[in-house]
Amino acid sequence: MDKLKILPAQKLSGEIKVPGDKSISHRAVMLGALAEGETIVNNFLNSADCRATAECFRQMGIELTANGSQLTILGKGLKGLYKPSKSLDVGNSGTTLRLLSGILAGQNFETTITGDSSIQKRPMKRIVEPLELMGAKVLGLRSEVRGQEEIFPPLTITGSKLKGITYKMPIASAQVKSCLLLAGLYAEGETTIVEPYPSRDHTERMLAYFGVPVKKFKNEVSISAPSAFEGREIFVPGDISSAAYFLVAGALLPGSDIEIRGVGTNPTRTGILEVMHRMGVEFFVKDEEIISGEPRANIRVTGLGYNLKGIEIGGDLIPRLIDEIPIIAVLATQAEGQTIIKDAKELRVKESDRIRTISTELTKMGAKIEEKEDGMIIYGPTKLKAAKIDSHGDHRVAMSAAIAGLIAEGQTVIEDTECIETSFPGFLKDYFKA
Ligand code: S3P
Repeated sequence: MDKLKILPAQKLSGEIKVPGDKSISHRAVMLGALAEGETIVNNFLNSADCRATAECFRQMGIELTANGSQLTILGKGLKGLYKPSKSLDVGNSGTTLRLLSGILAGQNFETTITGDSSIQKRPMKRIVEPLELMGAKVLGLRSEVRGQEEIFPPLTITGSKLKGITYKMPIASAQVKSCLLLAGLYAEGETTIVEPYPSRDHTERMLAYFGVPVKKFKNEVSISAPSAFEGREIFVPGDISSAAYFLVAGALLPGSDIEIRGVGTNPTRTGILEVMHRMGVEFFVKDEEIISGEPRANIRVTGLGYNLKGIEIGGDLIPRLIDEIPIIAVLATQAEGQTIIKDAKELRVKESDRIRTISTELTKMGAKIEEKEDGMIIYGPTKLKAAKIDSHGDHRVAMSAAIAGLIAEGQTVIEDTECIETSFPGFLKDYFKA
């Protein structure tokens, strides 16, 4: 198991470019494979999770060629996929499993889809139930969790004739919404999804970019199956979830002055910026432009010439920063008063139970955190001290702890850092000389 040793840092300066957005890269592979002809994806995130998506499509007969961060996909149209000769393996990627299930539900073959030990613990009832309402046949492992029946991978999906439904989602989840929109590409009639709060809308934007009409009205999104659509060239912005580590490091290390260039600033993803602003961090978002249907900008942040204050984070803000809560927790350890994170029960079923893992690991570093069923309360400010940290195989826990290590006294050791490869190849090598 790889280990990372971190010493306190002085300041960060200069330009930083983070790798391509993970959510958008997954979707680019999927829609590129279902399009007719060539799709070129620039700044594709060549990480373990996105490679898993590409490999699943290779197994179904799609030709994909990577050249550095450029990926070329030879799409074969909506009906061009073949039955894979073995089970599809998504590795650690819940996004691949949930989104791909929507596509597999509309094929004319049976597929089994599975992944690593963390994937086997991720709840799938949220997609199985609505897919079944559309007429899909999905078999998974059923078991009881706290008195409620849940469904876990592997999933065996028998492609069926699907029909459009109107589905009111009980939770705000872009993965569930996207799974159903992709199934909607194969359904007879219109598929409408209603969300409690808006979640990331990359699927809708990319479908529109490929010329597939998607209707949006408040928290509702509808799609009707197109007969076909053509391949396109896509430019993927930098991942704001990866930028978040440096935004926080830049804010916390006195004297820092960094600019993160070409970061995705889709409003369904910028909750971290709202939190930084409310806590009192100084930053500037500039040169915003829209490329391939997605906004991007350069973000400059300067380090701690200010006092941070604790805030409350909950409600419709949660889906807009769901993946950034581990690094927000690190920021909150340096804020005066309480930072209350609530309505975030979903964190318990991410790559790890992030409410538990983040509370446990930051507490080892001296943070004062009270774990709640749907979030946590962080009491600050606290001077962090070095500790031996377990990533729990969760990339975002590992990277958040690495940033905490930069402001802690002593040498922090993070164990089990291979997981960082799932979303941010280069994080260790480029920034921690590991
Ligand atoms: C993702 C959606 C989010 C997020 C995940 C990626 C996506 O999950 O946590 O890392 O690409 O659609 P949920 O939509 O299930 O909250």
